[in-house]
Amino acid sequence: MSRFAVFGNPISHSLSPMIHNEFSNELGIDLSYEKILSPIDEFEFTANQFINEGGLGFNITLPFKVEAFNFSQELTSNAIAAGAVNTIKIDNNVIIGENTDGNGLVNDLEINLAESLSGKEILIIGAGGATQGILKPILDKNPEKILLANRTSEKSVQLASEFLKYGKVCGFGINQIKSKPVDIIINATSASIDGAMPALPGGVCKGALCYDLMYGAQTPFMKWGLENSARKVSDGLGMLVEQAALSFNFWHAKSPRTDSVISLIREING
Ligand code: ATR
Repeated sequence: MSRFAVFGNPISHSLSPMIHNEFSNELGIDLSYEKILSPIDEFEFTANQFINEGGLGFNITLPFKVEAFNFSQELTSNAIAAGAVNTIKIDNNVIIGENTDGNGLVNDLEINLAESLSGKEILIIGAGGATQGILKPILDKNPEKILLANRTSEKSVQLASEFLKYGKVCGFGINQIKSKPVDIIINATSASIDGAMPALPGGVCKGALCYDLMYGAQTPFMKWGLENSARKVSDGLGMLVEQAALSFNFWHAKSPRTDSVISLIREING
């Protein structure tokens, strides 16, 4: 049986084994997909061990995505732009690194939520690794522009300047956000993990889609959106399932259905 896995630390919470098992059942592919807890300083050792045991591919979650990038022998264009790898495939003994996070988000927005990105004004909050992973796939969809706001403005200014080659993106501080509505707001900060909410002016949200990369019934950002006349709010569960589907396709050259898996997880989580 072909072996696949997800590496992280912590990893016990991961939904990836369940998602990949649903995909493989649907498409009749015989595989095993396990969770592997890598010690913080031993990602390379743990990954090599899995490959030597015959592992054919794996996902990588926090905090190893940049280490997985450095571990890869070849990189896709998505991985290069993201500076991080969330999917590895062993192909003829070559370790190939891909990043499916950004296109997973784009598919969730455009297919599941029916939000076209072309011509839209999109405000992204945060300028860390999560933002770096989604910028190019969004810019590839030709938005009117991306406004990139971060608590530490130097970081968003720097990141915006690195992505200007892909499209219109402008970096500034969160405290400079105007109280003027945009089409879509994406929360790519890690604030929701701590139950926190970046300080944003309510006016920017009127009529917008508020999308949180975190998943959970109602994150503080989603709650803020609902209180400030957002048109729609969403957590990042759809992105999680869509990025998994793109990883699955990278390994097996088959596209699984995602809608039934998203519904199943929502049902289980109440
Ligand atoms: P990740 O890989 O998840 O993006 P990261 O690289 O540590 O994690 O980046 C976290 C992002 O969340 C940063 O943009 C951070 O802002 P700073 O660069 O100013 O630190 C942002 N962030 C975290 N907590 C926040 C909060 N309470 N309010 C606003 N921004 C926050």
